[in-house]
Amino acid sequence: MVGPTRNFWDQRFAEGNTPWDRGAANPQLGIWLLVGALKPCRILVPGCGSGYEVAVLAQEGFDVTALDYSAEAIARTRQHLEDQNLKANLVEADALAWQPDRPFDVIYEQTCLCALYPDQWRDYADRMQRWLKPGGRLFALFVQFLRPDAADGQIQGPPYHCDINAMRALFPEPRWGWPKPPYPRTTHPRGLAELAVVLERKD
Ligand SMILES: C[S@@+](CC[C@H](N)C(=O)[O-])C[C@H]1O[C@@H](n2cnc3c(N)ncnc32)[C@H](O)[C@@H]1O
Repeated sequence: MVGPTRNFWDQRFAEGNTPWDRGAANPQLGIWLLVGALKPCRILVPGCGSGYEVAVLAQEGFDVTALDYSAEAIARTRQHLEDQNLKANLVEADALAWQPDRPFDVIYEQTCLCALYPDQWRDYADRMQRWLKPGGRLFALFVQFLRPDAADGQIQGPPYHCDINAMRALFPEPRWGWPKPPYPRTTHPRGLAELAVVLERKD
């Protein structure tokens, strides 16, 4: 298989080589909570990594399921929760094989999509649609990290650049409802940015 493997991610966590990791929850999550866009519900966090967002959501009273196929990531998330005496449902599984027993109200997608090789995006997007209830919402942070070699057709990552046109093709209307651009842009200390978009499952 082309692209990063479970072992790749386990190794990155074990070595502490995690440049995507802010050491804290994404500021955009705080904004969504503050303005009431995101209210306590049954929520899935795929590719949860170290679990900062999982802990914030659990603290805010959400029924959180955190999914990651890296045992190291799940261990970090568990530790964060234990440190703050919080509870969440932790699932160590491949997002491209796992199936929940019932759908979610909301998915918080922060840098799991950009961690997958683009050949896998269609499968992952279709799964996210099935994981949501009709009318459920996808709170997405689409990573913007266009590398110079993309001009020659090179596909480089992770993170794989989540071009807005590709996102429209992946989550097309009318299957998904889109807000009008421009979208809030969150910058990351490592030089990349994320576009914050809330999509709604329409069918
Ligand atoms: C770039 S990290 C982001 C972690 C976290 N969301 C954050 O923003 O700090 C990508 C995460 O997705 C996980 N991941 C990648 N592919 C996955 C898959 N197929 N199934 C489950 N988790 C996956 C990795 O193990 C890693 O924890």
